[in-house]
Amino acid sequence: MAMTQEEYKSITAYVFDICGIVLGDDKQYLVEQRLTPVLSELGCTNFTDLAKRLSSGVTNFLVREKVLNAMTTNETSFFRDEHPYVAFREKIMPDMLERVKQRKERPWQRRGPKVSMWSAAASTGQEPYSMAMIISDVVATKGMGLVTMEDFGILGTDISSKVLSKAMEGKYGPLDVARGLTPDMRNRYFVKEDEFFVVNDKIRKLVEFKAFNIQDPFTQIGSFDVIFCRNILIYFTDDAKKKILSQFYQILAPGGYLLLGSAENMYNLNNDFATERYGATTIYRKH
Ligand SMILES: C[S@@+](CC[C@H](N)C(=O)[O-])C[C@H]1O[C@@H](n2cnc3c(N)ncnc32)[C@H](O)[C@@H]1O
Repeated sequence: MAMTQEEYKSITAYVFDICGIVLGDDKQYLVEQRLTPVLSELGCTNFTDLAKRLSSGVTNFLVREKVLNAMTTNETSFFRDEHPYVAFREKIMPDMLERVKQRKERPWQRRGPKVSMWSAAASTGQEPYSMAMIISDVVATKGMGLVTMEDFGILGTDISSKVLSKAMEGKYGPLDVARGLTPDMRNRYFVKEDEFFVVNDKIRKLVEFKAFNIQDPFTQIGSFDVIFCRNILIYFTDDAKKKILSQFYQILAPGGYLLLGSAENMYNLNNDFATERYGATTIYRKH
């Protein structure tokens, strides 16, 4: 089903308003394709109805959720792009083990996990679970009994309720696990249920999921040693990116790490972070 240019403008203004995603003039076909299947669920017979509804300012939670779930791009995979996870395992994790040990010497300074990490666009969960698998590997080989899994916590957030419920379920099909997981990782960290693979309790216990719009102020989100914010900033305006990056800087612990997507960088957006290269990965660090 097609929409007029005016309708397209109203609908994309609404999407921008609720989640900050910028949809340029070249995306009309994509918007039509994604919203056509939900028109009837929204009680609309065509895009004229929908545009009227979205621009009226009186949409309810259900409409917002349906539009969000349809309009967000949730593409992800385990160990996506591989190299950031090599950097995480080889460069970041040794530092995290040290932090745990140091913080254990000063127990009065911190409650809860000694090291906190955030996957800020977690989608269906593959990113935070990949981080958790690496933590488990490193703790088993280098923790020496001094550092345990309980010393780590990962928060996974996303704006889309649909992907978050899949992330919480932690249940993946054969095609999902074929993308990025070695058979060894699959055997060690998943339980087979019919044709599905379910993340085991050891990994799941490390990750907590919650809904969060990254355009909102970070006041309630906590502070972190490591932030993965991969493949989301590309959808936002430069102003929004600047706001998000400066808040990342504020909530990172001194010496904390930020990893962005392979097509994302901070050029002209933020001068606070120091950059380091590790293989093909750019690591952003708080001074
Ligand atoms: C392409 S996925 C990236 C997943 C993962 N980080 C990766 O790199 O594989 C982008 C995710 O950002 C989420 N997203 C879009 N706008 C958002 C917003 N304003 N706040 C929080 N999440 C948002 C989408 O729902 C989607 O799941």
